[in-house]
Amino acid sequence: MLRQVLLRASENAWLERQMRRRSFARRAVSRFMPGETANAALEAARRLGEHDISTVFTKLGEALDDGDEIEKVVRHYLGLLRQIAERELSSQISIKLTQLGQELGQEVAEANLERLAAAAEHGNVVWVDMEASPYLDETLDIFTATLARHPNLGLCVQAYLYRTAADVERLLALGARLRLVKGAYQEPADIAWPRKPDVDENFMVLTRMMLEAADPAAPHGLATHDTALLGRILDEARGMGLPRDAFEVQMLYGIRAREQLALRRRGIPVRVLISYGPHWYPWYMRRLAERPANLGFVVRSVFTR
Ligand code: FDA
Repeated sequence: MLRQVLLRASENAWLERQMRRRSFARRAVSRFMPGETANAALEAARRLGEHDISTVFTKLGEALDDGDEIEKVVRHYLGLLRQIAERELSSQISIKLTQLGQELGQEVAEANLERLAAAAEHGNVVWVDMEASPYLDETLDIFTATLARHPNLGLCVQAYLYRTAADVERLLALGARLRLVKGAYQEPADIAWPRKPDVDENFMVLTRMMLEAADPAAPHGLATHDTALLGRILDEARGMGLPRDAFEVQMLYGIRAREQLALRRRGIPVRVLISYGPHWYPWYMRRLAERPANLGFVVRSVFTR
């Protein structure tokens, strides 16, 4: 119930304006992002790198429909790829197609993804986030068309959707690198499992498919903070006789940080997604919806300076 309220609030422009003005909200958000600038994100990646934890950067923002703003985002990511190379960070980038112009047309987003994939071709990877279901078919089209020219692409797939097993089968056959998540948006019951245990079971079904196609040279990402599920994933991989670096565990910055270190110490590759930028509101509300207990941090931030 509360999850639904928070997800609905994540789409409310008035609330966004209110929250972005409040310093207590910025304090609460800082738990999940190291700062609003790329430099803050790069510095956080350097610190995680000291623990041999890899990273992936996302500049927050979605559903852009202004050509100039979209061009700025593309140039920002091009600059970031150069920074990653110069600083020799083990970092990749993750974009949303609605940040690259999907609202203006499939061909706009595809052309911009092409520019990023080409720039990253020698040694880096561009991940494509999966957004809400109305964008899914186009996202798959844009991704597969670009993948045919640039193998250094990865795509996020969501375990809460009934259709994902069929999508994953097709994507693995194309040699795609995948990141599996539970799914963060509000989706109707005719396309997505409403109950968490069903989503978790499907996560395991999809994990097995991805582990069977595991390739340490282009590892898939199993992205969850669910320690029970992670235990099952690690058992499954061990049972299949896979090496520890056959896949990556991916988590979000600021969530289960101790677990991230513990996994890495056990020899399991860990990649942390670092989000940054001023447009944090819808993304932050989705983080609250994942764990409404986080509202406690918001309340505490009202009273601390
Ligand atoms: P679940 O929600 O069941 O949480 C398990 C436990 O983890 C909780 O009990 C809690 O202890 C902890 N936890 C989870 N979320 C927390 C939070 N916000 N704050 C504090 N603790 C928390 N989604 C999507 O639809 N498209 C995408 O492209 C991506 N991309 C993406 C990349 C990466 C690297 C990650 C880790 C996640 C995403 N997601 C995503 C988000 C994903 O769909 C999902 O909403 C979150 O990962 C939370 O789900 P869990 O698997 O962690 O399980």
